[in-house]
Amino acid sequence: MIPFSLRVLFLRTYMVIFKFVTWVLPFREPQLFNGPGASLELCRVVAAGGTRKILIVTDEMLAKLGLLEPLVAELEKNNVEVAVYDRIKPDPTIALIEDGLEFLRQNSCEAILAVGGGSSMDAAKMIAARATNNKPIQKMAGLFLVFRRPLPLFAIPTTAGTGSEVTIAAVVSDPEEQRKFAVIDLKLVPQMAALDAELMKGLPPQITSATGMDALTHAVEAYISKNALKRTDEKAVEATKLIMQWLPEAVHNGQNLEARQNMALASYYAGIAFTQAGVGYVHAISHNFGARYHTPHGLGNAIVLPYVLEYSKPVCAQRLAKLAEHCGMKQGGESVEELAEKFIDRIREMNADFGIPTKLDALQAADIPAIADAALKEARFTYAVPKYMDRPTCEGLIKQIMV
Ligand SMILES: [Fe+2]
Repeated sequence: MIPFSLRVLFLRTYMVIFKFVTWVLPFREPQLFNGPGASLELCRVVAAGGTRKILIVTDEMLAKLGLLEPLVAELEKNNVEVAVYDRIKPDPTIALIEDGLEFLRQNSCEAILAVGGGSSMDAAKMIAARATNNKPIQKMAGLFLVFRRPLPLFAIPTTAGTGSEVTIAAVVSDPEEQRKFAVIDLKLVPQMAALDAELMKGLPPQITSATGMDALTHAVEAYISKNALKRTDEKAVEATKLIMQWLPEAVHNGQNLEARQNMALASYYAGIAFTQAGVGYVHAISHNFGARYHTPHGLGNAIVLPYVLEYSKPVCAQRLAKLAEHCGMKQGGESVEELAEKFIDRIREMNADFGIPTKLDALQAADIPAIADAALKEARFTYAVPKYMDRPTCEGLIKQIMV
């Protein structure tokens, strides 16, 4: 068995190369429309660009709520024919994406507009990629295996959390193999995105808080990542400031358009940060709560975040203190450690305010070894975490989350 310290040394070296590759990669951002009504502006620009038949990829609930109607009307008014595929479910599967592809072909659509949360945007990315790449989705799993440019893709997020409108990844479920995998490619970034608070004001508080805490986790994990770059730090700080300032208002007063718009922008910035710098153990553990207990992604992150930050604090107190300072928590006279702890405490207070528990009810002691194994495996070659865990440490941390 290779000693833990040697394994860490190997991973650190590997991550330095990873960081260099990230630094040179030509990440791009979508053309952004930002503000109440931005979704209609995006529709007009899509039409002006010459698209004549577009597929809207969304879920049934959004269609029923009537959120699509103004978008469809605007597109049709500008001579774009619209087909609506509204069968997206959480955690889109390979079969669902193939079904969407079939629908796209039956309707001869030449572009895709994703309207919804992370599931709709991820499914739309993969339908767009499959439309131009004649190979099974499983063969695109991993890094840079989408060879041909996907169909033109536009995104209108209706939650402020995943940041999928600006990330290079799509997560796909494979129920046959009981696994989820990520397709990661620069070509998956949509051409345009609209952040429109008007579409978010009806979101219930529990979804607003969970998705908002997901965005906060993206920003914080990207900021304390060893792969953080100056350009990702700027976005992570901006996102953290906005979330600390506006998420409580968006949760408690969902009709406040200013709060909603700032949260949409925060989620977008956090997406830019983490799609380059990566996330960390919070996501690795929370993904496995999701796979085992169907814990919603944002809720799982919100619960796990303070535990992982407390564990990481000895090596990244400076970074956490900086975030606290940016968020106006410094009163003067506190040590770096005290400021870092203030930041973690603030996250605990937000969770408490949103009714998010400190422990996960569903978590079973017997499952902890397998969850720790899977989380460590996910993090190993993917996330440049500030402080690595060995298996007993990871199990010990997860045990703290048990009721
Ligand atoms: Fe996330």
